Amino acid sequence: MNEAIHTILNHRSIRDFQDKQLTDEQIKMIVACAQAASTSSFIQAYSIIGIKDKEKKAKLAHLAGDQRYVLNNGHFFVFCADLHRHFLIGELEQKDVMTSIESTEKFMVALIDASLAAQNAAVAAESMGLGICYIGGIRNNLDEVKAVLKTPEFVIPLFGMAVGYPEEINEQKPRLPLEHVYHEEEYQQNNEVQISQLQDYDEIISRYYQQRTNGKRGDRWTAQMASMLENPKRMYMKEFIEKNRMNLK
Ligand SMILES: Cc1cc2nc3c(=O)[nH]c(=O)nc-3n(C[C@H](O)[C@H](O)[C@H](O)COP(=O)(O)O)c2cc1C
Repeated sequence: MNEAIHTILNHRSIRDFQDKQLTDEQIKMIVACAQAASTSSFIQAYSIIGIKDKEKKAKLAHLAGDQRYVLNNGHFFVFCADLHRHFLIGELEQKDVMTSIESTEKFMVALIDASLAAQNAAVAAESMGLGICYIGGIRNNLDEVKAVLKTPEFVIPLFGMAVGYPEEINEQKPRLPLEHVYHEEEYQQNNEVQISQLQDYDEIISRYYQQRTNGKRGDRWTAQMASMLENPKRMYMKEFIEKNRMNLK
């Protein structure tokens, strides 16, 4: 197994970090790796905001549902979908770019670009011996996050990423077996097979939680997903995105 594959397959989210900050060289290297990701039509429709300031981290930690590792880490990044510079390009080049910028397609492109960049950053950090945890919790209250980060129109903060030196390394969470997610030639739709696969995976996950909690927890994955999905979250999102002039057309 080569080192890149070892790093990728060794991933687990880290939520306990040593009190040791990343150096500027480390931060720049992680951002350079993020930027090396592929980008739709070379659009580069994202921005990354790095947070060192403890007070700002504390505000974001609170807004993200009091997640302590948003405050206690080696560096905190926020990944944003960003079409603001493309809005400026419209003015610079005196072209009407607004229909594109406000389209669902370009919104998706910005989400995809930001996510690809983020995952490159994650793998780069992990390859440097650091740990990471994505933080979708910042979407709990984007109006306030936006005020803290001073993001303009056409910019949507998507998720944070806490990075740092691991204090504690958890076990890895078993993923769906490969044949559940990988289809060859076409989507193999067979609900009966899929349901029986889900039941098999429930056993794997249940065993995983039992081992991890000395038998206290034995959650099934389907039960976890069902209870998450029956409680819709962040339903203000459509309105927030439209208010920021994206995903309108
Ligand atoms: C976009 C995104 C947002 C996430 N948000 C949070 C979060 O707010 N808090 C948290 O503790 N973990 C968060 N996670 C981490 C997931 O819970 C984690 O990746 C998943 O449970 C699988 O565990 P693993 O990363 O250890 O394999 C997030 C992951 C992603 C990809």
